[in-house]
Amino acid sequence: MLKLQQIQKTFNEGTPDEKVALGNINLHLKPGDFVTIIGSNGAGKSTMMNMISGALTPDYGRVIIDGKDVTALPEFKRSQYIGRVFQDPMAGTAPSMTIEENIALAYSRNKPRSLRMGVTKKRRDIFRTALERLHLNLENRLGAKVGLLSGGERQALSLLMATFTQPSILLLDEHTAALDPSRAELITQLTKELVAQDQLTTLMVTHNMQQALDLGNRLIMMDKGQIILEVEEERKPHLTIPDLMAEFEAIRGEKMNSDRALLG
Ligand SMILES: Nc1ncnc2c1ncn2[C@@H]1O[C@H](COP(=O)(O)OP(=O)(O)OP(=O)(O)O)[C@@H](O)[C@H]1O
Ligand SMILES: [Mg+2]
Repeated sequence: MLKLQQIQKTFNEGTPDEKVALGNINLHLKPGDFVTIIGSNGAGKSTMMNMISGALTPDYGRVIIDGKDVTALPEFKRSQYIGRVFQDPMAGTAPSMTIEENIALAYSRNKPRSLRMGVTKKRRDIFRTALERLHLNLENRLGAKVGLLSGGERQALSLLMATFTQPSILLLDEHTAALDPSRAELITQLTKELVAQDQLTTLMVTHNMQQALDLGNRLIMMDKGQIILEVEEERKPHLTIPDLMAEFEAIRGEKMNSDRALLG
């Protein structure tokens, strides 16, 4: 489903600002895997997401999605395989367009040009049914401008749009971090539901360790451009926050610091 093979990325190579963002990343996701990703600031989590989405090209290594080598495929061509939600609720939707127009864009993402645009009665029904899954009554506000929605509503809509066309890979990069606790909980719940219903293969970055433990069937910890810990399906249900901290300390030989990093 997704394979990252020996991915390496260095920014500003050969300058004083040189930064190895990804050392040598190997990761293999089976269909339906839901992997949560934790790691301190600057560990390379977003860079890894950018490699998968095609926003960045690796210096070395390969990205394989659905058995196809997409390493050289530009982001816009890869978007048919990828759904992505960012931290910023403002990032995933177009504020001056209505809810319906935004969903229509997501809907036509992987369709031929001739089938794009236009909201027919049949499509409107599909959009309504999809919006009902959010339990936010947005299905009755199809004509509302997205710029008028709250951050939580907007992030829920972003999540729906990212999952609407059943992407091969769903990328969630701290997508609940900018929301207040109750809204974050709502989006976490929705994420669980949508991913489970559609059995989406998912990577989710979070700084909240409890969330990383509660969601998904696998967990990885990143540090300094490496995956330093992989917790597989069998072990994940038994894992606790003290376990994670102990693992980090054992691997790094230092205490996990209490920056925003891993304590969430
Ligand atoms: N476009 C870029 N140019 C130069 N350096 C970059 C660029 N993007 C990321 N970096 C650097 O690469 C490293 C990894 O960054 P990345 O954004 O992947 O970290 P992260 O794990 O997502 O961190 P955070 O938890 O803070 O979001 C950081 O040191 C960052 O400063
Ligand atoms: Mg990041």
